[in-house]
Amino acid sequence: MTAAIDTPVVSIVQGNNSDLIAEAARLYIPSGSVVRDVTWGKGAFWRGVDTSSITLVGSDIAPHIAVDGVIQADFRDLPDDDETADVVVLDPPYVHNPGKHMTDARYNNAATTTGMSHSDIRQLYRCGMAEAMRILRPGGRLLVKGKDEIESGRQCWSQTELLLDAVSLGLYGKDSFVLFPTSRTAMGRWAKQLHARKVHSFLWVFEKPVKTDRRVLHVVDAEGWVEQWAARRPRGKVFGGWVWV
Ligand SMILES: C[S@@+](CC[C@H](N)C(=O)[O-])C[C@H]1O[C@@H](n2cnc3c(N)ncnc32)[C@H](O)[C@@H]1O
Repeated sequence: MTAAIDTPVVSIVQGNNSDLIAEAARLYIPSGSVVRDVTWGKGAFWRGVDTSSITLVGSDIAPHIAVDGVIQADFRDLPDDDETADVVVLDPPYVHNPGKHMTDARYNNAATTTGMSHSDIRQLYRCGMAEAMRILRPGGRLLVKGKDEIESGRQCWSQTELLLDAVSLGLYGKDSFVLFPTSRTAMGRWAKQLHARKVHSFLWVFEKPVKTDRRVLHVVDAEGWVEQWAARRPRGKVFGGWVWV
C-alpha cells in the first residue's frame, strides 16, 4: 500500500478530527481499501475524506448510531471474518469515569464507560486492538485515536501505553500524528493546576506485520534495564503477565 503524494504528509495537524484523518488517509488509506470504522459515532472522521474510492463500513455499540447502514457491534467482538480489512479505525471513549465531561453528548461516554478507571479504558483499547488484529489482513493498518489524561492528579500516558500494548499484540508502530485543535479546550475544571492542560490528542498508525507470529517483548533485565526482544512465538504458546517499563 503506497500512496502517490504531491505534498508531504506531516505529523502535526491543526484543525479538527476530520482534518487529522484526511491527512493520515493521504498516506495510509489508499483508494481501493476496505476500511472498517468500528467506533462510528457521528461519522465525523470521514467528512474530509473522499470515500467514493474506498469501501467504508461503520459500526458502533450504540443502537441509535446503528442506522443507515451502520452496523451495531462491540469492537471487542466484531462480526467480520478474519483478515478481511485493509484499515481499521478505532476511536473509543478515552476519558476515565466520564461523569459530566464536556464531550459526553458527542461521544456517548456515559453510556459506555461510566465507572471505568483509566486502566479499564486501557483494557478497552487493548481488546479493541486485539480484535482489529484479527480482522486486518497482513500488512493492513490500524488507526487508533486517543488522548493522554489525568486521573486523581496523576499523569496517564495513554499514547505510550497504547504503543506498548499494540507492540505486545504483535503490531508495529508505524507512525503517529498529533492534533492541535482549533476548537476551544475547556480550561475551568480544577481550582489548582498540577500539570500542563492537555490540548492535543494523537493518532497512532499501527501495522499488522506480514509475519504474524513475530512478537516484540519488553523485558526488564536483572539490573532494571528494559530490553526489546523480537521473537518468534512458538505455535500454541500464550504469553501472560505484565512487565513494568
Ligand atoms: C469518541 S466517539 C467516536 C467518534 C467518531 N470517531 C466520530 O467521528 O464521530 C466513541 C464511540 O465509541 C462507541 N463505543 C464505545 N464503546 C464501544 C464498544 N465497546 N464497541 C463499539 N463502539 C463503542 C461510542 O458509542 C461512541 O460512539
